[in-house]
Amino acid sequence: MKSSKVKAHFEEEAAEFDQLILKLIPYYKEMIESLINSIPFNSNQPIKVMDLGCGTGTITKQLKEKFPNANVTCLDLAENMIEMAKLKLDGYDDINYLTGDFYHFNFTEKYDVVVSSLALHHLIRDEDKKEFYEKIYSALNPGGVFFNADVVLGSNNYLQNLYIRKWKEFMDKNINIDEIENKWIPAAEDEDHPAKLVDQLNWLNEIGFKDIDIIWKYYGGAVYGGFK
Ligand SMILES: C[S@@+](CC[C@H](N)C(=O)[O-])C[C@H]1O[C@@H](n2cnc3c(N)ncnc32)[C@H](O)[C@@H]1O
Repeated sequence: MKSSKVKAHFEEEAAEFDQLILKLIPYYKEMIESLINSIPFNSNQPIKVMDLGCGTGTITKQLKEKFPNANVTCLDLAENMIEMAKLKLDGYDDINYLTGDFYHFNFTEKYDVVVSSLALHHLIRDEDKKEFYEKIYSALNPGGVFFNADVVLGSNNYLQNLYIRKWKEFMDKNINIDEIENKWIPAAEDEDHPAKLVDQLNWLNEIGFKDIDIIWKYYGGAVYGGFK
């Protein structure tokens, strides 16, 4: 299975994920805040939302705090991550949980908002990502939005090396250099398949998204998407 390595990784990491992500991902909180701020609905609207690769439910939690009437579906490959999400979102009775793989997932309902954070770069090929963006577009209601907070590839070697250098610089504040070089960099090389941001914006445009924009960016991390 294409996703088996990624699944094993996140099954194992689920319990410590929330602490780890803050050490690994530059300005994670700021990035997620910008993702939530991109959602163009009034806070009291009963919007239907899909959180793709929901992990431990951090994005859905922040979304529910801003949009208390939102009905959210949380999809993830790793059962342990879904279990952590259920704990975090315990107080809400309008969240649906789905265990599933993007590679085999077909939307059966329409959504006003599709969001994702740090998950879609696990799709291996550019075509896999583009095909999935097409599915997302088809699953959106008119006026709906898709925003993705994710790792992106630099447009050339110089920029990509710069992105990696700045990522290491950030991790170096929280994690020892041995762990960075022998654990996190090899894991990223093995499991992550980021695509160039400009390419992704072009795909969104070809698919039919309007008002495509980049809401936030810090070197190899970006929040971007568009409207239907
Ligand atoms: C780095 S975590 C991010 C979790 C959460 N979105 C966040 O930002 O805190 C990536 C998540 O994507 C999920 N994921 C990776 N590949 C997937 C796939 N093919 N189908 C469904 N979920 C996937 C992983 O299981 C993991 O929970």
